[in-house]
Amino acid sequence: MKHTVTGNQSDHLHPPVELDAFDDQYYPRGDSDFSSIIEDALSRRDFIKRSLGLGLSAFLTSCASKGLVTATHSQNKKPSVKSTVQFDAIQSSVADTVVVPEHFDWDIVVRWGDPLWSKGMSLDEKTGGTSQSQALAFGDNNDGMALFQTSDNRYILAVNHEYTNLPTLYAHRDSKLPENDEDVRKGMYAHGISIIEIKNSREGWSIVNDSPYNRRITPATTMAIVGPLRGYSKMKTNANPDGTQSLGTWNNCANGRTPWGTYLTCEENFNGYFSSTDPDYAPTPEMQRYGIGNKDWGYAWGKYDERFDISKNPNEPNRAGYVVEIDPENPNSMPKKLTALGRMKHENAEVVIAKDKRVVVYMGDDERGEYLYRFISDGKYSPNIAKENDLLHHGTLYAAKFYSSGKGEWLALIPETTGMRKEEICLHTRMAASAVNATTMDRPEWVSASPVSLQVVCALTNNKNRGIQPNKGGDETPVGGPNPRAKNLYGQIVRWFPNTDHTANDFKWDLFAMAGNPTIHKDEYAGSDNISPENMFNAPDGVSFDKNGDLWIQTDGNYSNKGEFSGMGNNQMLVGFPDTGEIKRFLVGPKEAEITGITWGPDYKSLFVGIQHPGERGNSHFPQGGNHVPRSSVIVVYRKDGKAIV
Ligand code: FEO
Ligand code: CA
Ligand code: CA
Repeated sequence: MKHTVTGNQSDHLHPPVELDAFDDQYYPRGDSDFSSIIEDALSRRDFIKRSLGLGLSAFLTSCASKGLVTATHSQNKKPSVKSTVQFDAIQSSVADTVVVPEHFDWDIVVRWGDPLWSKGMSLDEKTGGTSQSQALAFGDNNDGMALFQTSDNRYILAVNHEYTNLPTLYAHRDSKLPENDEDVRKGMYAHGISIIEIKNSREGWSIVNDSPYNRRITPATTMAIVGPLRGYSKMKTNANPDGTQSLGTWNNCANGRTPWGTYLTCEENFNGYFSSTDPDYAPTPEMQRYGIGNKDWGYAWGKYDERFDISKNPNEPNRAGYVVEIDPENPNSMPKKLTALGRMKHENAEVVIAKDKRVVVYMGDDERGEYLYRFISDGKYSPNIAKENDLLHHGTLYAAKFYSSGKGEWLALIPETTGMRKEEICLHTRMAASAVNATTMDRPEWVSASPVSLQVVCALTNNKNRGIQPNKGGDETPVGGPNPRAKNLYGQIVRWFPNTDHTANDFKWDLFAMAGNPTIHKDEYAGSDNISPENMFNAPDGVSFDKNGDLWIQTDGNYSNKGEFSGMGNNQMLVGFPDTGEIKRFLVGPKEAEITGITWGPDYKSLFVGIQHPGERGNSHFPQGGNHVPRSSVIVVYRKDGKAIV
């Protein structure tokens, strides 16, 4: 489908929404990793003392040489011999369209509301459609995704739908909020996952309507609960007294994929859908730790479906917050909730096969002051393993501890270290990580492991509360280590190098990049030495190494282009080169959108990228232009000469 360059109209269809409201909820912390930082306090204080009086570049160099803050890549200007991506970096943009480098172009593949079957209906922009039309269409707010090639050489795209844009979904309501059972079901069906067959023709990539592979997975789809929490008492509800199945998945943020051909979808802000019809209901401390309370985030599911009413079904929230495994090639397969991978606000799930063939999964818990995790399977992978296997059903969880010396370790979350039984570690994983005093992070988003070298990165998107006292609106998380700045508005990308192998408990770390604005700051808020006025960005979120080990970085940040963020423009995608530290801007999205989701087509000639929530404040008509409502979309980027991108 060819794209339309959009016009400049801005008729404010939407009421204003809180920026980043869905990813950025605050809860008061009950604990912190103060003690871990105190361990290092002396050396850090000495370090700061030594840094004072030095100029900015000397400060950063000093940081780099100590491995304390920024990486030492400035000393190595030799590009990666394996790197093949070639493009001229582009400038920032505030246009209501996608901008890519010279010699590249892009098309739309699929948009919110596009029907997947001929019995579906085109999107009614005046109403946002009906529950039936949403159930038969590509969902809202596409996020993580992965492309699979089937045995018969067809292409299946599995795509998450993180949440819904209430003003466009409920365009027919003055309130722009759901007001009855039909509205709520419409909202539910706009969530979940779309599994669609796509094909490449003269017109470019498009959906194969009525493909036997096409499937919508929604909050109403039956799923198996597998792993340690299968049948656990706290997983039982009136509707499912044996605690072995649950209905559906929602707030599916980023993703993963396994070498045996399954798709992993990660439940992030699952809490925002629960509420209580009893205003006096007292949420438990465990609920509060996960942000579950008597009020939801505007979805009204608990008002019309008792399952989401915590005063009536207090165990239902225990059945969300997992990584879910799906076989994209079998539309009749039952998705599995992988409880062994822990319960948190899962961002993505990066799967690596270790030297000894155990399966390692790296995962971030995206909330201010939460943790970075690793799972190691008990069983071992083999290339001809069946798709229906239980490798991700049994294993051990770890939480990351970073020391300001530049070293770190993975702390096992087991009964001996946490004082919690195995089931509780999987159910209340945040408490288990607090119990071992893991390092509280600046909102861990995606994790990616390089396929060509032993290094892993995680985007730490931002943390406005870091280092701010609780009585000033902050929390108790201290400044230091991989979270080196108070009131961190810009974010950073932490990188670690496992000792020997991904199963090793020890690692070394640095910051590959510390985002910042060098045009208005001269201190550490200017960013690391690989950030310049030409490539600056804020809030790294999606990170994904390509086959050559170059790092694609997607942002979900402040797009005001003003004040602290002046010159950064709309959200964007950049390429980072780990060997040199160089970062080049590759793509800029339309107004008020987030760039999230990345997967490659055959022969690396097609790069699929997600454009999420364009016009979330009412100022975009992407992608159709004119007076059309904005629609989240998957786009494909390609070289005009048809050659491979990487
Ligand atoms: Fe849904 Fe943390 O991004
Ligand atoms: Ca994200
Ligand atoms: Ca984000």
